[in-house]
Amino acid sequence: MANTATHTASDEVEAPAKRDFLKILTVSAGAVALGATAWPLIDAMNPTVSELAVAKPIVNVGGIAPNTALRIMWLGQPIYIRKLTPQQIADNQFIVPDTLPDPASYTDRVKPGYETFVVVVGLNTGISCELLGNSPSDARGPFDGWSCPCDGSIYDPLGRVRSGPARKNLAIPRFTFLNDTQIQFG
Ligand code: FES
Repeated sequence: MANTATHTASDEVEAPAKRDFLKILTVSAGAVALGATAWPLIDAMNPTVSELAVAKPIVNVGGIAPNTALRIMWLGQPIYIRKLTPQQIADNQFIVPDTLPDPASYTDRVKPGYETFVVVVGLNTGISCELLGNSPSDARGPFDGWSCPCDGSIYDPLGRVRSGPARKNLAIPRFTFLNDTQIQFG
């Protein structure tokens, strides 16, 4: 009987506090354990370096000669990176957009500060074939751009449709110039 008599008011205060402390400790330990278990799974979802290199490739454009284009594949599509000649720039710079089947100005088709480069998806917007025109010896059509000799669609060097069944300009992929000689896609 002696024990019950010594049970003081402070005991009543301490017990819930201890309980709370233990509760917090348990919850924290659980959270840490959960985190330790979940992190490898979360981290596995992060793209690897090689996946990033495929998803966001960096392409060197320093070696592209004027009047030629480099062809790469990105996300399953042919991408053409063309370097314009001064004549091609002069011929296309002041075309009135509203006179074109799919109105677009020169500046709509190039990046500021890199106006000698045109970057397009090399697929005919009519029948989705791969176009001719990357090499000066290809059948480029009357505007010195790209063409599909099969359906007759004709594009200028900025990838703007000029004639034929296609009604849309060549698509422009997402890309950024990192510097004068490197483009990153994505
Ligand atoms: S289908 Fe376009 S080049 Fe033949």
